Amino acid sequence: MIILAIDTSCDETAAAVTEEIRILSNIIWSQASLHAKFGGVYPTLAKRMHQERIDWVIGKAITNSKTQISSLDAVAVTIGPGLAPALEVGIKYAIKLTKKYNKPLIPVNHVEGHLFSPLARPKNSQSPISNFQLPTSKLFPCLGLVVSGGTTQLILAKDLGKYKILANTIDDALGEALDKGARLLGLGYPGGAVLEKIARLHNVSAKQFQENTYSLPLPMLGRENEGKFSYSGLKTALARTVSKIKNQKGSLSKSDIQELASTYQDVAFSHLIRIISNTIYHLPFTIHHLLVSGGVASNLTLRKKIRKMAKELNITPLFPYSKKLCTDNAAMIGVCAFLKTKRPSAIIKPKLASKIDRAPKFSIEDVL
Ligand code: KG4
Repeated sequence: MIILAIDTSCDETAAAVTEEIRILSNIIWSQASLHAKFGGVYPTLAKRMHQERIDWVIGKAITNSKTQISSLDAVAVTIGPGLAPALEVGIKYAIKLTKKYNKPLIPVNHVEGHLFSPLARPKNSQSPISNFQLPTSKLFPCLGLVVSGGTTQLILAKDLGKYKILANTIDDALGEALDKGARLLGLGYPGGAVLEKIARLHNVSAKQFQENTYSLPLPMLGRENEGKFSYSGLKTALARTVSKIKNQKGSLSKSDIQELASTYQDVAFSHLIRIISNTIYHLPFTIHHLLVSGGVASNLTLRKKIRKMAKELNITPLFPYSKKLCTDNAAMIGVCAFLKTKRPSAIIKPKLASKIDRAPKFSIEDVL
């Protein structure tokens, strides 16, 4: 089953060709640098840039996959959650292709796409995923942790299309919190990856020389049972600490920035782990796999913490095989669409394709 997948949910124009769970091509054109001066994604600019680039991105995905549009079995597209003007560009294009080439359309939830991204395999891979074949009863029920710029959710996947959010953020998403923290430290936008790099510098020197000077409060302490992540208080605490240092010394030194980056990242991840481990510990049934995805899943410090927790809880964590599958991409949409083909109701006939619309607030719990 060969699928052309399209995702324009935020600031990446993305297209991919997948064959079942294998990725034949994965093209991403990021607009992040264009939005940097706004400190976040500017929706009308995102729409315009998607319109300008989508032809090229899809053409390149087809060429790199060494397939032809005529040999595709279906077109998949993200319908939400995301920015409405941005989603519209990908959906319109997918409908156009569906009608022109008489291919079925598979609408996909962006978070469901992230959820299954650890199952994607490279083009030449023959091997089954980890220690189970797909799709199989061995995977479900499983847990998914999606940590990106817009989502921080711990999801129980009882089966394909049967999802329950066990823990969700009540304010900022983890990636958003890291981006805001990086901005407060003058590290630019988006800042998650830079923050990781700067934090590592502190961790290396801290081992040899220093004691920590600054501390930041752990969110939701004593409220781990509530199934809530919260990052706005941590961000405010960092903002206060930064302005206190600036008042005292005029500016942040290099080592202040490194230590604060490390402390902020560490507290943000510790909070995440505490809530997840508490939730897993109290589940009334056994879970074997935790699928970890989203832009923040490429962070090595976070992966280390998750592996440690998983060992203690006797579960196997699975991560996407490359960083390109963590941040927004269309390959994960193609893989998810393939899994969805097991449920005929997920496939839309070409003549009904124009009924598909944007769903900017599409919750994974509403996926059919
Ligand atoms: O999945 P993604 O593209 O989602 C959304 O756009 O919603 O993820 C982007 C997020 C950004 O917040 C970015 O700072 C964060 O993922 N990110 C990282 C790393 N790489 C990207 N956060 C921590 N460590 C990284 N290495």
